[in-house]
Amino acid sequence: MTPVIDAVSVIADKRDGRELTDEQITWTIDRYTRADGVADEQMSALLMAIYLRGMTDREIVTWTRSMIDSGTRMDFGGLRRAGRPVATVDKHSTGGVGDKITLPLAPLVASFGVAVPQLSGRGLGHTGGTLDKLESISGWRADLTTAQMHSQLESVGAVICAAGADLAPADRKMYALRDVTGTVESIPLLASSIMSKKIAEGTGALVLDVKTGSGAFLSSSDDARRLAETMVSLGTAAGVRTTALLTDMSTPLGLTAGNAVEVAESLEVLAGGGPADVVELTLALAREMLVAAGLPDADPAAHLADGRAMDTWRSMIAAQGGDPDAPLPVAPHVEVVRAASSGVLTSLDAHAVGVAAWRLGAGRAVPGAAVQAEAGVVLHAKPGDAVVAGTPLYSLHTRTPEAIAGAVAALEGAAVIGPMVVGADRDSRPLTRPLVLDRVTV
Ligand code: URA
Repeated sequence: MTPVIDAVSVIADKRDGRELTDEQITWTIDRYTRADGVADEQMSALLMAIYLRGMTDREIVTWTRSMIDSGTRMDFGGLRRAGRPVATVDKHSTGGVGDKITLPLAPLVASFGVAVPQLSGRGLGHTGGTLDKLESISGWRADLTTAQMHSQLESVGAVICAAGADLAPADRKMYALRDVTGTVESIPLLASSIMSKKIAEGTGALVLDVKTGSGAFLSSSDDARRLAETMVSLGTAAGVRTTALLTDMSTPLGLTAGNAVEVAESLEVLAGGGPADVVELTLALAREMLVAAGLPDADPAAHLADGRAMDTWRSMIAAQGGDPDAPLPVAPHVEVVRAASSGVLTSLDAHAVGVAAWRLGAGRAVPGAAVQAEAGVVLHAKPGDAVVAGTPLYSLHTRTPEAIAGAVAALEGAAVIGPMVVGADRDSRPLTRPLVLDRVTV
């Protein structure tokens, strides 16, 4: 006999620490997606119960599968480039400050003949969104049909676009609730949200960039490792070749956090320059992706140096209506914040910089609001750099000068300047943590 399931008993079971059955999970997600028998307030209560009680591995697998089944799966199995079947490989970051890596990475990997279907998101809280950044390029559009994605993957190799409404719609609804109910930072909910979309997207291989540190959703490295292990297991069990890098997000990546300012920095990387940490992480992730695509000997640094990654970037932007030669928008108001003392910058808090960029207009306060393309923070020093009192620490870029006070307040205490240590200069950086902390596989 089919068990009778109702939302209240599912919530009460999880609240009291009982493991949910597969039937309870599939019923709840199906009914919530169809708005038939599970209301937003009931899902909010269940999400909080999951946040507090956690989930077993079996529950996470079933929860993720039910979210995938709430929509349609994409299939890139028949893709061809230059007349041959082609491997698909995607990268997903758990979100950080100044994390513009997708921008140089997708065209770089595609320049080796691999297909990179990169479904990306918009900014969330203090973390930036790849689509918001790319929209600062004149004419560029994020919304493509599945047929347009296929055709661009075959002709250019790289697509960065928004997920269609039918890709894991349960996650779309649930994510909006989690954002406003304090339930984002839960390992089962993060893992199932990310992996349902990545598995439904139909990529053959996936490389995860799991962040840890103040600018990440999970600041403890033990939690980040558990998240990485959970996601790698989910991907592998679903037949997606999945590996993860655990990476540091205690300080922003590169020297920019915002929209157009991050595109400009990505162009420096594609032109063979750019900040060392952005280049290092781009290359580390590119190597992982190329190995997963069956190209273990490929040398991604060579394609940054010789312009092949830049050529693919230009084709990718143009294919989505963008003008790769158009000047990027520039903020009419720039406020410079200066160092209060001399010494060496011992730390620079990623979360504070993310909040400052968001307050300047780079992120949104309410879902669906417009962001300012020109808003963001430009850093003039990174941990390990010597600084002199009175010299610039940050430049705050915005279209709305009334936002500057809030950004300055967010940055209060974010930069710690300590006594000068012998050898603490831009080249040796003895005070910095390694960027890639570990690699996680099954
Ligand atoms: N990105 C997602 O897709 N889901 C989350 O829960 C967090 C970041």
